[in-house]
Formats: sequence, C-alpha cells, structure tokens
Amino acid sequence: MEQATQKKVMISGIQPSGDLHLGNYLGPLRHWPAMIEEFDCYFFLADLHTITVRQDPAMLRRRTLEQLASYIACGLDPEKCVLFVQSHVPAHSQLAWVLDCYTMFGELSRMTQFKDKSAKHADNINAGLFTYPALMAADILLYQPDFVPVGEDQKQHVEICRDIANRFNNIYGEVFKVPEPYIAKVGARIMSLNAPESKMSKSMPEGCVFLMEKPEDIMRKFKRAVTDSDTERCVRYAPAEKPGVSNLIQIYAAATGKSYEEVEREFDGQGYGKFKPAVGEAIVETLRPIREEAQRLLTDKTYLESVYRAGAEKADYVANKTLRKVYKKVGFVAR
Ligand code: TYM
Repeated sequence: MEQATQKKVMISGIQPSGDLHLGNYLGPLRHWPAMIEEFDCYFFLADLHTITVRQDPAMLRRRTLEQLASYIACGLDPEKCVLFVQSHVPAHSQLAWVLDCYTMFGELSRMTQFKDKSAKHADNINAGLFTYPALMAADILLYQPDFVPVGEDQKQHVEICRDIANRFNNIYGEVFKVPEPYIAKVGARIMSLNAPESKMSKSMPEGCVFLMEKPEDIMRKFKRAVTDSDTERCVRYAPAEKPGVSNLIQIYAAATGKSYEEVEREFDGQGYGKFKPAVGEAIVETLRPIREEAQRLLTDKTYLESVYRAGAEKADYVANKTLRKVYKKVGFVAR
C-alpha cells in the first residue's frame, strides 16, 4: 500500500499472549473495521512482545492463528487493510535495536507496565520486558502513521514512542512522523467483572470475558459480576462511587451504542438483578457472529496462511523504506 494515496495512516497491534478478551474488543478492536474505510491501516499480531513473559510455544502458535481469524471475523477485510504477524517483518526487530540506543534508562524505568509486570513475574525480569517500549516504538514508527488506536493502558507507550521519535528527528531531521494516540471515549478502560478496581485482563480469567467463550460461560460471569455495596442499588454511572455498576454501564453502552444516560433511563427503577443478565445478553449477541465466523475461518488454514503471507509482503515493503532511511541517517554503510 503506497503512502502516495494521501490517506492518513493507522497502525495497531495486540499480543497473542492470551485469547482476545472484551477489553481488547471494546477498547480498540471494534473501532478498527470502520477505520479501514478511511485510512491506510496496518494491524498486526504482536508475537515478538509476548516472549517478554514465558509462553508455551504450541499455545502461542495456536493463539496467533486464532487471533488472526478473530481480526477477520471482527470485520478487518484483508483486501482493505494490511494484516500481518510482527515476527514475519524483521524490520521491527532491526529498528528496535536502533531505537534502544535512543531510549533512556530513566524513561523506561517509569513505565507502568514494566513496573506491573516485573512485580507479577519477579523471577523473570528480563531485558526485553524493560526495553519493550522501544520495540513498540519501532512497530509504530516504521509505518509513518498519523494515529495509533489503543486502549487507555497503552497511552504511556504511545507517548514514549513520540518522545523517541522527536529525539531522533531532532538529531537527524524529519525521519519519523510523530503519531497521535487515538483513544475511544467509551470502552477505553474496561474493568474486571469480579474486581472492578483492576482493568479486565487475561491474567484474571474469572473477571474476564473472552471473545471465543461459550454463551453460557459469558452469562455466568455477568450474573456473578461484582456490583456495589451502596444502599441505593440503582443503575447510575458514577465510577468513583460505583465502580462495578459503572463498568457494566460502560460495557452495555459500548456494545449497544447507547449513551450512559440512555442506559440509566432504560434500567431506571430496576435492580441489579435485571441489569446484569441484560448486559450479559447484549455481549453474547455481539460476540456470537464473531465467534462463529472465527471458528469457520480456523478450519481454512490455507486461507489464513495466504492472508498473513500477503500482509507480511506489504508490511515489509513499507517498513524497509523507513529502516533504510534510518540506517543511512545513523551512518551505516548500505549493503
Ligand atoms: P495488549 O495486547 O495488552 O492489548 C491490546 C489492546 O487492547 C487494549 N486493552 C484494553 N482496552 C480497554 N480495556 C481493557 N481492559 C483493555 N485491555 C487491553 C490495549 O490498550 C491495546 O490497545 N503493547 C501493546 C501491543 C502493541 C502495540 C504496538 C499496540 C505492540 N506494539 C504498536 C499499538 C501499536 C499491548 O501489549 O497491548
């Protein structure tokens, strides 16, 4: 895909370290299909990032293919955007090394995700976990994007990417476009269903709804969702006072396209007992066609292979253009 089309460019990725969940979907992913109509879009499976934490190799392979099938099932038409696997495009690792040398120890030490993950995996605080944001900056800057659509928790990484790009540009001239994070208003931070003070994540599976999960399991999780111990027991959006109910309102609003006020009116006078299964059902119906289509696609491995091969070729072409420019600027002799 040539930049000469003058369309704005967008890139984003998700790690196949766990099955895709509702946070991934309602935060960034559900917005991507509309973007492919308007922008030149690159969406990848961030497999290089996953090994900062130990992975089971067979599981990682399975999840990578499943995630690709889910991307397509969510509406990412491979004819209209570039879908690829990060490790298939060596320029990501190559640029990451260069950017490592333009990223400061101090700024990496301040990254919330590094602090969280090193606390969680105290026996494996490896160098990759620490320099992860430089690889993420490479993922982004290779494609000269205007926007990076992510959930709230990745904002800090997009900001450090901007800092690295500006630092590099200040030394060598305008090599990189400095992109903006693109964070949706509703759904940017979906919280765990059973611990609404923490964000929904695959590391807490009971409070996490997975895209491929069976409807009865999804319903069970929503029925058991933690609501608030306040006495009013009404469906009202107030994240500080009522984190559990507010999270469910956010989920319902994101799934149905309704505003928070509309959701409050719809459930006015009804207790949490009616509200929780209604949210569950809305999610079951949202995810049903995605799950069915992903399962169908997974039976056609040849098709999935053709998608990631074509994607890698297109991504390689664009990424190498930027990489050559960077190598030249820093003074490497061309091969
Ligand atoms: P990852 O794989 O943890 O998450 C993928 C995307 O899902 C969003 N997300 C959420 N949004 C709302 N509520 C939640 N509970 C929730 N949990 C996750 C994340 O914000 C993210 O947008 N470092 C990235 C992957 C990555 C990347 C990139 C993204 C690597 N290189 C380049 C953009 C551009 C990550 O670990 O996301």
